Amino acid sequence: MSGLIPKNFIDELVTRADIVEIIGRRVQLKRQGREFAGLCPFHQEKTPSFTVSPQKQFFHCFGCGTHGTVIGFMMRYEHLEFVEAIERLAAEMGLEVPRDGTPVNPHTEIFEVLARAQRYYTEALTHSAEAKAYLTHRGIGADASANYGIGYAPGDGDALAKALCQTPVSPATALAAGLLSRNSRGYYDRFRQRLMLPIRDTRGRTVGFGGRALGDAQPKYLNSPETPVFHKGRLLYGLYEVRQRNQRLTHIVVVEGYLDVIALAEAGYGEVVATLGTSITERQVEQLFRAGADEVIYCFDGDSAGKRAAWRALEQTLPLLTPGRSVRFAFLPPGEDPDSLVRRQGLAAFAATIDSAQPGSEYLLANLHPDRLAGAEERARFAGALRPLLARIHDDIYREMLTAEAAERVGLSVERMMRLMQAERAPTRAKPASPHVARPPRCDPTIKRAIALLIAAPAEIAANPPQVDLSSLTLAGSEILRQLLETLEHNPHLNTAGLLERWRTHPDASFLGRIPYEYRDSIWQLAQEGQESRLAEEFRHTLFHLASEAVIGAEYERLENTLRSGRELGPEERQRLRQLQIRMAKQKTRE
Ligand code: GTP
Ligand code: MN
Repeated sequence: MSGLIPKNFIDELVTRADIVEIIGRRVQLKRQGREFAGLCPFHQEKTPSFTVSPQKQFFHCFGCGTHGTVIGFMMRYEHLEFVEAIERLAAEMGLEVPRDGTPVNPHTEIFEVLARAQRYYTEALTHSAEAKAYLTHRGIGADASANYGIGYAPGDGDALAKALCQTPVSPATALAAGLLSRNSRGYYDRFRQRLMLPIRDTRGRTVGFGGRALGDAQPKYLNSPETPVFHKGRLLYGLYEVRQRNQRLTHIVVVEGYLDVIALAEAGYGEVVATLGTSITERQVEQLFRAGADEVIYCFDGDSAGKRAAWRALEQTLPLLTPGRSVRFAFLPPGEDPDSLVRRQGLAAFAATIDSAQPGSEYLLANLHPDRLAGAEERARFAGALRPLLARIHDDIYREMLTAEAAERVGLSVERMMRLMQAERAPTRAKPASPHVARPPRCDPTIKRAIALLIAAPAEIAANPPQVDLSSLTLAGSEILRQLLETLEHNPHLNTAGLLERWRTHPDASFLGRIPYEYRDSIWQLAQEGQESRLAEEFRHTLFHLASEAVIGAEYERLENTLRSGRELGPEERQRLRQLQIRMAKQKTRE
């Protein structure tokens, strides 16, 4: 295993790569002033709104909002993970990816023992008449069995432990990999007398197992415990296999069971994955879209548990939807799962269910009962339920589309609906339905504009950075601005792409990434016309203004605190405080 890719290599790659050339190999681009434009590969369009800026080394689609650096482009277009994208780019540029020498992947041994265990289990399957009979009984043939690496854990209790003893693997590693357990008498197998379904990461490495009892033994499924390489909320069963089969995916169906995935693959329906028995997370949905699917279809039981799971899935998917990405919902007839449906009625019955899946927006709105909007109270209820859902959507265009659709459904004008969605925002702040979802931070408009300027003209700003002290600035978003300035100070050579690339894994990355889009007609337009020095000048003014606000804010706070602590203010202090209060009040009304 190789070590980490050094940060400065990534900086260099995004700064040096000719984004026009790299994208131009995949998308037909035409020069348009200082930029290049073409048909966006990430959504359907007839007139080009996909632009590539050689100065910024950044691409942006004005139609669907997709944007990013050359690394982001490769990840999306070629459906690669971050490291894979770096490797591919480096290869196209004829560069060798350097690795930091020492930190060899700390999980190498765990991956190795998991691979050994998988070989052991598949071998054991060939010797077990009972397990083979079970597969036959379930209708799983040799191909599906081999594709999904199905194996068998014998019932002896320490068969794997013994087999691993013959190899240089330490039992402690097998314990850490979740394969063995330990009691006072020593190590023993975690999985006994079970059909073993390896769960693979996106690179195809086995990271854990799902073990199904052969008969009615309980529990029906035993999964690997969470280990350094096995995280239920991040993995999807069958995703690696889907990607192996399909270079160009259109959609992916998410079902509930491991054996549903296998049965569907056996029947010839390959675009299927399952969660590991938990409800789907935003991170998992992201992986599906990143694998290249434009559409995710959730196919769950029609019972109440299935409906709850579907609603949760919708909540996790909303943040990721754009005009080019959609979600649909299919519910199975009562008592059926995909496996039983295909076996009883054939693949066509399943395909028909998928074909008739309900579009996400329709599903969402139907669940808010727009038909019951008799009076003002009902309308308020509807708006109250819709608002937090809309707030989850990151993409402005998609959010507007959905708002318009909602308006149509309930017979209101779009303007009226927009106002309804904005009303009461302050008192009843929509509580985030799930705390781990990254939401755009609230940001003061002046700070946001400063950030936009900084991203648009980093070189010009770095050349002559304003000497101001922003440390006491408390406006929302100040911290992001401070961090960006600091990064630029230490790395004055970074361009827009390089700066944003540094934030890739930061929770505010998507907030930052959308800024060029939000300011497309003003700041970004000027940047594209080569007016960076004007932008840098505005940035300086904005920063001086912010710094003086910070000083005034601190003064105001000091006087207020003095007053609160009970000390008398002198006449000058009192006059100053009154001035400041008026100033603050004016500012409030402006906001
Ligand atoms: P079959 O019942 O053999 O057809 O398997 P299935 O994959 O269709 O499972 P089912 O629909 O009953 O359950 C859906 C998923 O929930 C499974 O694939 C597992 O991920 C999970 N699950 C079901 N039962 C258990 C259990 O007893 N323990 C755990 N940890 N997970 C379970
Ligand atoms: Mn089943």
